[in-house]
Amino acid sequence: MTAATKPLTGDEIVALSREHTLFEWSAQARVDPIPVARAEGIHFWTPEGKRFIDFNSQLMSVNAGHGERRIIDAIHEQLKTLDYANPFMATEPRARLGAKLAELCPGDIDVFFFTNGGAEANENAVKIARQATGRHKILARYRSYHGATAGAIALTGDPRRWAAEPGMPGVVHVLDPYHGIERGWDDAATALAHLEEVIQLEGPQTIAAFVLETVTGTNGILVPPDGYLQGVRELCTRHGILMIADEVMAGFGRTGEWFAVNHWGVVPDLLTMAKGLTSSYVPLGAVGMRRAIADHFRDRVFPGGLTYNSHPVGCAAALAAIRVYEEDRLVERARETGRVMKQLLAELAAKHPSVGAVRSIGLFGIVELVRDRKTREPLAPYNGTSEEMAALARFFREEGLYTMVRWNAFYANPPLTITEAQLREAFAIVDRGLEITDRAVRA
Ligand SMILES: Cc1ncc(COP(=O)(O)O)c(C=O)c1O
Repeated sequence: MTAATKPLTGDEIVALSREHTLFEWSAQARVDPIPVARAEGIHFWTPEGKRFIDFNSQLMSVNAGHGERRIIDAIHEQLKTLDYANPFMATEPRARLGAKLAELCPGDIDVFFFTNGGAEANENAVKIARQATGRHKILARYRSYHGATAGAIALTGDPRRWAAEPGMPGVVHVLDPYHGIERGWDDAATALAHLEEVIQLEGPQTIAAFVLETVTGTNGILVPPDGYLQGVRELCTRHGILMIADEVMAGFGRTGEWFAVNHWGVVPDLLTMAKGLTSSYVPLGAVGMRRAIADHFRDRVFPGGLTYNSHPVGCAAALAAIRVYEEDRLVERARETGRVMKQLLAELAAKHPSVGAVRSIGLFGIVELVRDRKTREPLAPYNGTSEEMAALARFFREEGLYTMVRWNAFYANPPLTITEAQLREAFAIVDRGLEITDRAVRA
């Protein structure tokens, strides 16, 4: 092997990456990335062979697990046959994926525009909603993330938006049913009354759309109270506001349904997706729309485009990922294994004083930690960290459990392929880690 092709060590990979590339959402001097060389199933390895359980499916996105031959082969075959065609052309993977998504999506959502990822799906959903309604305002929620491009970051409600302000005009944020670990939840009626008041105050005739994560992801795996999404649907319909469900993270089996809206029998007007669409093997996003909205562009120009719209490799990867979800019953498995995970989360809550709340739906789960069980003071502040949370993150890393640790919480979002034994192995590490945070609890 020549010097140029000799594999880099983990330290070399980290050093060069830090020297010449920017890491997202981080001060570069403080990043400490895990060097990753290969991955298979629910695991990945460093170049030196340290094994990690991928307890976050990377970015809540490798739903089919790593190294899935059927997806890899489909990508390979597509590249050998047709590497790329521009988006004015029609290709077989584009045709088949459009038809397949029409079959999978709820209601009459059966027309799709393909993008590079989730942010662009939301950008185009907003563009379509504004065109179709002739209105300009967009409602979004505070505890949300919709992507990092100019429009999507303006929709985003969490602190990642702050550095991008002033952003796209016309976005109005509303409160969520959840108010953080100390204040807890509103019931559906209270949350809907707040939403209706904002709609009245803003002028319903000025509002094109309400964009919301069906089950909120990075802002806390927030499963809406029953009746909330049905109420949102009703309010939107009553006021001619289009409902945009952002299913970028919650879609493709993560919650134990193809799409999270299915749990509540709600059909949004537009539905955005990415991540699990291809199990993240290659980038692809999409915005799906109901037939009536697509009809708006029958005789009017659709004013949008992307060089990689309907990329044949992305479409082939998505078709293969969907086939894997179907053949291996991964949506049903997420529901079944999700029941075991709910039980394991409940056991953690019963045993560990630092566990303030656990939430999950399917294999979409979170643990929120507290410093004080009576006041429910979080173990790290909103948008902050603490020594104890940092120590917990270090413990997980040392023990070979990879997951997202953010503010006062950590996530449980394994690939949908995880077995019960593997899930128990991961939870055994979590159980030991929580001894660190238990020591910080006051009362
Ligand atoms: C709910 C949600 N919407 C949109 C996005 C943005 O997707 P992307 O990073 O592919 O642009 C994300 C990414 O995490 C997400 O979780």
